[in-house]
Amino acid sequence: WLPPTGALLLGYLLGSIPFGVILTRIGGAGDLRQVGSGNIGATNVLRTGRKGLAAATLLLDMAKGAVAVLLVEWLWPGHGPVAAAAAFVGHCYPIWLRFRGGKGVATLMGVVLALHWPSGLVYAAAWLGLLATLRISSVAGMAAAVSAPVSAALTDRFDLVLLLLALALIVLWKHGDNIERLLTGTEPRIGEPRD
Ligand code: G3P
Repeated sequence: WLPPTGALLLGYLLGSIPFGVILTRIGGAGDLRQVGSGNIGATNVLRTGRKGLAAATLLLDMAKGAVAVLLVEWLWPGHGPVAAAAAFVGHCYPIWLRFRGGKGVATLMGVVLALHWPSGLVYAAAWLGLLATLRISSVAGMAAAVSAPVSAALTDRFDLVLLLLALALIVLWKHGDNIERLLTGTEPRIGEPRD
């Protein structure tokens, strides 16, 4: 019972660390949940005007997902996917914020890089490429998330397809407000103010 339970607990605890909220508070930029979209991710940290804090949030939200997978694989080989799911769920539904967490894009990137780096590279390239061209964070994040199960399938990692598909669907679910704004043409681009 120890490996799966340990993987779940370690994954969830690491994933649920709300770096965006912690860094903006320590950095004196206020309560992130009162800013912009109210989301706890790097895109919303950027709306505080603090680029360094936003970059740190992105990196740490990615790192916690990757560390959860690598640490659990080292402790209990074969249980990385359980830790991946738990870390992702921890970020999206952290107990510390009454289960109102982030949208999962950065943490999923870290998790996918650690689980299967070729799919992780495709994810990062899709995210960065779309972010640079469209400058709409939600579109870049959703497309990157959907790329993960597709990349896994195309590289014969069928053991990861269902898991990555489920996590990508949660990313889409978490972007409900963004999808509504995209449909009404009111989703802001990076750097644009929002209501
Ligand atoms: O990763 C979150 C991003 O896709 C959207 O964030 O704050 O624009 O809703 P936000």
